Amino acid sequence: MDPADFYTGIVAEIYGPLKSVSQDPEPYAAFIQQIGGPALELGCGDGDPLLELRRRGLEVDGVDSSSDMLERLRRRADEQGIRVTVFHQRMEALNLPRRYRTVFLAGPTFTLLPDDTTALAALRGIRAHLAEGGTALVPLFTPAPTSADQIGRVRTAAAPDGAELRVSAVAEQRDETTRTQTTLLRYERHHGSDSTVVERPWLMHWYSQDQFEKLAATAGLAVTAVTDQDGEPAPANDTDLLHFRLQAM
Ligand SMILES: C[S@@+](CC[C@H](N)C(=O)[O-])C[C@H]1O[C@@H](n2cnc3c(N)ncnc32)[C@H](O)[C@@H]1O
Repeated sequence: MDPADFYTGIVAEIYGPLKSVSQDPEPYAAFIQQIGGPALELGCGDGDPLLELRRRGLEVDGVDSSSDMLERLRRRADEQGIRVTVFHQRMEALNLPRRYRTVFLAGPTFTLLPDDTTALAALRGIRAHLAEGGTALVPLFTPAPTSADQIGRVRTAAAPDGAELRVSAVAEQRDETTRTQTTLLRYERHHGSDSTVVERPWLMHWYSQDQFEKLAATAGLAVTAVTDQDGEPAPANDTDLLHFRLQAM
């Protein structure tokens, strides 16, 4: 399975009910207000934080590679009376009708791009879709290995139709050379005598600050700031979630 199709089918169905915390819209609202719109969220999924940003009157379009996630986003938008413009595309093959003053990802979705070649294509797409003087915001982190006691641990949630939804990590492989970690996740849906069980590899690919800066430069983007959760400049070896700001060179 292509990593861009991970959040489809049963994974998209379970994503909403199992989401423990929604993306905090604040940093992204502040970013758009500071730099200006229109804005584009890459990997907008089922609508957090895009829906809240739209509710605040900010002009934000969305892109996601999963039509199942976008269907959920559109349903939530309809329920909440929010108008949205979203595109079913992969961020490594972006081709949109307009340019944006701000382009951002909410949370570390960029680490779902499986290798440097795909990441470079996405950065080139970001560069091509930035309006004159625009800024991109890419959050990145280095994932920790899943601890042994978490392997096999099941999280459960209820589907709207009463089905029991379950997800657990079955196994994990980590490769420091390619900077990838693949966690085999088991998704289950049980309703009466009906059961579906699907196992999918969830891949994450990470970067040192230096590696990301070089990749961005190849795409014609300069890293203008790297900040931590509190908006403070981040030390070079920080593995927590950091916000990289990028501008055309
Ligand atoms: C972890 S979800 C985050 C969704 C949303 N921002 C949230 O916090 O609820 C990541 C999203 O990125 C999308 N995605 C993964 N790879 C992608 C790609 N190559 N291009 C566009 N979207 C992608 C997935 O389909 C999924 O909806």
